[in-house]
Amino acid sequence: MDMSEQEFKEELASRVEAAEHIVKQHLAKAADMQVPATITEAMNYSVLAGGKRLRPVLLLEMFRLFGGEGTGAEYFAAAIEMIHTYSLVHDDLPAMDNDMYRRGKKTTWAVYGDALGVLAGDALLNFAFETAAAAFAVCKTQEEYARTAQALQVLARNAGIDGMIGGQVADIEAEENAGQLGEDALLYIHTHKTGALIRAAMLCGAILAGVTDREQLAKIERAAMDIGVAFQIQDDILDVTGDSQELGKPVGSDAVNGKTTYVTLKGVEESAREVARLSDEAIRIVKGFPGEHRFMEALIAWLIDRRF
Ligand code: IPE
Ligand code: IPE
Ligand code: MG
Ligand code: MG
Ligand code: MG
Repeated sequence: MDMSEQEFKEELASRVEAAEHIVKQHLAKAADMQVPATITEAMNYSVLAGGKRLRPVLLLEMFRLFGGEGTGAEYFAAAIEMIHTYSLVHDDLPAMDNDMYRRGKKTTWAVYGDALGVLAGDALLNFAFETAAAAFAVCKTQEEYARTAQALQVLARNAGIDGMIGGQVADIEAEENAGQLGEDALLYIHTHKTGALIRAAMLCGAILAGVTDREQLAKIERAAMDIGVAFQIQDDILDVTGDSQELGKPVGSDAVNGKTTYVTLKGVEESAREVARLSDEAIRIVKGFPGEHRFMEALIAWLIDRRF
């Protein structure tokens, strides 16, 4: 039986709270260091501003679904939210999307200046890997060491040039030839700038839980890509139809920057149908996962109608 809306809302709130707690707990370790106060302040500012915490929630849920035990996944959950937040801090910089609001507050660069915006992003990226690597300290078996090493590699690959950074580069370069950008190029951008970190979240959760079967990992990857692309198309839709108060970030930023999006290519309605199609496809794959996956299904369905 599907989850009722009420049941899902309560479940989501408790998962987000748990993820938030884990992120805060790990980020707090940076504040304990003898370092210039501004940098930890700027890191805290962006991470603690809020956000949906989708990636750590996904990572922890995959870990649970596939029978993971222990605290190893928590290090990675914190790390992926730090990486995601750094990507937003840099995405908002004047040299990139030049946005002033994020997560309902002024963007990091708007408060601390461009230089600290760059450095706070860099700091979060490095601290993310320091945090994920600390998961080795809680490994009890040789197998857990191997899983942690593999998850680290997956995280690095997907955050890097063959992942989120590659997508962001293509996104920025595409501004130059808006109007000529085709669907394939746009799909590259969406699968990389957004899909890759969602893939990292889902794969790392599963790998840390002990999934080794290639076919199972390929299915997880396919579901993650469907979710990632659907998520970014919905983000593009909300940039046109959303409410900046609800979103906590400006609407109309894509138009100002001359971005090609699914909405500029196909219009809002066709884009919304594509979000629904991709989400249904992801839900179909998730139904084949072991364990209790009603929350995961409801989470994917929620992303279709989200207003923020
Ligand atoms: C925003 O991500 C950037 C995209 C990849 C679309 P989110 O919509 O997950 O942002 P937060 O974390 O909730 O602020
Ligand atoms: C950003 O895409 C994806 C990232 C990797 C940060 P957008 O530029 O559309 O994200 P928003 O709309 O600023 O959150
Ligand atoms: Mg951008
Ligand atoms: Mg942006
Ligand atoms: Mg956007």
